[in-house]
Amino acid sequence: MRMQIFILMIFSIAVAASIAFFYTRKILRPVDKLVSGINRIASGDLRYRLEPLGKDEISQLAEHFNTMAARLRNIQNKLKRTERLETLGKLASVLSHEIRNPLNSMVINMQILRREYKKSASAPEKLDHYHNIIVSEIKRVDELVSNFLMIAKPPKLEPETRKVAEILDEVITMQQPLALPKGIRIERNYSDPELKARVDSNKIKQVFLNIVINAIQAMPGGGRLKVEMEKTISYESDLTLDMIRISFKDTGKGIKPEDLKHIFDFYFSTKKEGTGIGLSIAQQIIEEHGGFIRVNSQYKKGTEVIIYLPIYYDS
Ligand SMILES: Nc1ncnc2c1ncn2[C@@H]1O[C@H](COP(=O)(O)OP(=O)(O)OP(=O)(O)O)[C@@H](O)[C@H]1O
Ligand SMILES: [Mg+2]
Repeated sequence: MRMQIFILMIFSIAVAASIAFFYTRKILRPVDKLVSGINRIASGDLRYRLEPLGKDEISQLAEHFNTMAARLRNIQNKLKRTERLETLGKLASVLSHEIRNPLNSMVINMQILRREYKKSASAPEKLDHYHNIIVSEIKRVDELVSNFLMIAKPPKLEPETRKVAEILDEVITMQQPLALPKGIRIERNYSDPELKARVDSNKIKQVFLNIVINAIQAMPGGGRLKVEMEKTISYESDLTLDMIRISFKDTGKGIKPEDLKHIFDFYFSTKKEGTGIGLSIAQQIIEEHGGFIRVNSQYKKGTEVIIYLPIYYDS
């Protein structure tokens, strides 16, 4: 009899312990998830959403947090639009200033050209020389204006289904002859070269080009640029999404930590000849495609620019 009571006691303790264990797990796990999710939102990642955690108060709290994060993101987007208008104003004043130089140069060279034409014995090379200066100044103005238009009123996307590897290859083939004489090796590693996306090829090509040129410019003494592509899953938006991850990793100068937060700003440049437009345009184009862009860098060691684009599956 005593033995039976003893066994019963052990059994009841075991049952009570497992019920306690089960409930603690059931409650603690969602709380854990809730806390880490809230931390993520609080740290500024307003795209993050907490996953549904059940049907109780915890889950309700998670839902409210999601609603709050969505509202904050809306406000943040509105602020971004206001910032954009400010940027456009700034851009317009820089543009008018920048255009004056090539215009002056064109006027002077036209006057010389006219004078030379009037001389009957003017050498054709001389005429060519002034003519070429005028043409290159016209190109410079055209570039300034098209960059401005790109930012002020981005042309509509013309998406088509493309293998991203093909566009990458076009850009690398184009840049390789410029990189090699500088002692820069461009390596490719595509884990799945068949990955496709809906993209405006010209725009995406421009993005890849801006990034590759930045990497080349960051390695004046030579180095290595690794271009990798793989499939990944993004948890950044409301839904988890299959994405293509494209990484451009160089062994160049790197970026100072205090500069890192400015590299996507219009006109931010640390280069003598830079306009500081390449990365801001790249970010704009990638976001228009439903993707995003990230940069990791170690000063004096190297930089990695990563682009995420939604995968397109033929169904
Ligand atoms: N791969 C890289 N390595 C080191 N620094 C980089 C790299 N990519 C970008 N940067 C930094 O970010 C800044 C902004 O880059 P962005 O491409 O927008 O402008 P830019 O290259 O200076 O000028 P532009 O592209 O208009 O000719 C650069 O001036 C540089 O300081
Ligand atoms: Mg650049």
